[in-house]
Amino acid sequence: MCGIVGAIAKANVVPTLLQGLSRLEYRGYDSAGLVITNQGMQRLRTTGRVTELSKLVALQKIQGYAGIAHTRWATHGEPSERNAHPHFSGAESRIAVVHNGIIENHEEIRAGLMNQGCRFTSDTDTEVIAHLIAAKLKECKDLFKAVCLSIAELQGAYAIAVMEESNPERIVVARNGAPLLIGVGKDANYVASDTSALLQATRDIIYLEEGDVAELDSNGYRIVSCLHHLLGESVERTIHESQMTSDSIELGPYTHYMQKEIFEQPSAVANTLEMVTNAQSITSNLFGSEAEKIFSKTKHILILACGTSYHAGLVARYWLESVAKIPCSVDIASEYRYRNPIADDGTLVIGISQSGETADTLAALNYARKLELSHSLAICNVPESALVRQSELRFLTRAGPEIGVASTKAFTTQLAVLLLLTATLAKMRHCLSPHEEQQMIAALRHLPVAIQLALQVEPEVKKWAQKFSQKKHALFLGRGVHYPIAMEGALKLKEISYIHAEAYAAGELKHGPLALVDKEMPVVAIAPNDQLLGKLKSNLQEVHARGGELYVFADADSQIAESEHLHVIRLSEHAGLLSPILHTIPLQLLAYHVALEKKTDVDKPRNLAKAVTVE
Ligand code: F6R
Repeated sequence: MCGIVGAIAKANVVPTLLQGLSRLEYRGYDSAGLVITNQGMQRLRTTGRVTELSKLVALQKIQGYAGIAHTRWATHGEPSERNAHPHFSGAESRIAVVHNGIIENHEEIRAGLMNQGCRFTSDTDTEVIAHLIAAKLKECKDLFKAVCLSIAELQGAYAIAVMEESNPERIVVARNGAPLLIGVGKDANYVASDTSALLQATRDIIYLEEGDVAELDSNGYRIVSCLHHLLGESVERTIHESQMTSDSIELGPYTHYMQKEIFEQPSAVANTLEMVTNAQSITSNLFGSEAEKIFSKTKHILILACGTSYHAGLVARYWLESVAKIPCSVDIASEYRYRNPIADDGTLVIGISQSGETADTLAALNYARKLELSHSLAICNVPESALVRQSELRFLTRAGPEIGVASTKAFTTQLAVLLLLTATLAKMRHCLSPHEEQQMIAALRHLPVAIQLALQVEPEVKKWAQKFSQKKHALFLGRGVHYPIAMEGALKLKEISYIHAEAYAAGELKHGPLALVDKEMPVVAIAPNDQLLGKLKSNLQEVHARGGELYVFADADSQIAESEHLHVIRLSEHAGLLSPILHTIPLQLLAYHVALEKKTDVDKPRNLAKAVTVE
């Protein structure tokens, strides 16, 4: 949520800031703004997208050697120009601040500052940071110190970048609970919330740690850790060379990132599974050097995640219990820590997250640690994320940056890893014979090709999409391991096409939702040839008998014939354990094409943002 980019150089930094902002826009797009220092501070803000901001910049011909910029996803205060960042303190020794995260004690700080005469011009929590720093600066006369003293009073999660009007030769930044990194350049240094924002300028990246405060000028940088000392002690942080390629964050021949990411799934899954598919056997050390020791003591698995990642966890529960014979529970991260859960000894806690930054997931994992569930595994797409750094074991999905707000390739790569984890635990628990192990490796090897084949249903899905785009509601049905896939299909449709979609375990239909079925209610069913197909067919008959319009995703072996009001799209093979992964593909395509029909903003659906870093 929200994106920060800043730069200080010996040349004009405005193009770097704008390019960086446009790459960060997927994180939040309610409004955008920047401050450039050039004989005073020039600030431009807009409730439009970054392209609007670029137009304003061009119109006013703004240039400068230092600046900070921001793209916002509103938390405190509506999306409006006055709430857009950067925020200023009062006119005297003016401070500009951009901020990601939430300051939980902002009301208290605001009241104190108002008593001292500060006047606020926005409804944001961020503005208190600017005023607080300005107040400290009055006392200590040094921006770096003023930032250190101010953050000691802030509660909550934040990443900030700060500039001072009367001393424009430096940018001071700080992080606590929200990602922030420094880009090291030649005669220039940068700050951003995400590496992708800096690729046009540098690949040399320093990931700041919790409690770090840093100052940058065009010649260098200095980092101190304020974790244990109010004014910090100097620390060295490693410079990493980012491997992210520009291709991975450019659209290339595609119209939308979501489309690109759907079609990247064969290669995303192939990259994720490379270590397995090139091997002769499945080994636990793919999850970390301690994995064997931890897995051998694991008696129960607890999966914590949100949204699409939660759906991946639900699929995994079926696999883990039926194949590896290990009890598994799956919790929505935002619920887990508020329901007084019981901690079982021998539990392995798995956090699943594309971004590794989701505040609810991080908080739930933290809560599990407090319950002394100390063994944790992260399945995550972002190597330097908080989730990965906090977990004992890890498996990185190598899907490449996911920019479309609706998660696609992250989900299928998570499922690929969870299937591998299932096989690993099944082998260790003697539930997988050597022959079955080889079959599993062969299936995982085949997965990228199978996804490629599944993508070929696109022309048929497009025809269905025209019909769906006329509807206001849709039901999605599945049974067993395909029930969470129905949930994922409904989530995709609602978030990008704004059609109200609900998923039900098909057996639940007659317990209430059947009342909704009429000819205006399209009913989507996930119907591969598994042991529940017979039961599912009976549920579909219940819909058919009430005049419902059925849209069935079947596989090569499902004996379901088309008839009036019953439409079938058939995947070209029956995929056994891989089936939930493959049935996800047409559902993603359906949501995408309905959104196209409805002309919604596919990559930036209303009210949403990528990486939800607030609770
Ligand atoms: C839906 C979607 C969200 C995310 C959720 C968790 O398409 O993208 O539901 O899955 O916000 O995000 P991560 O996986 O980054 O923790």
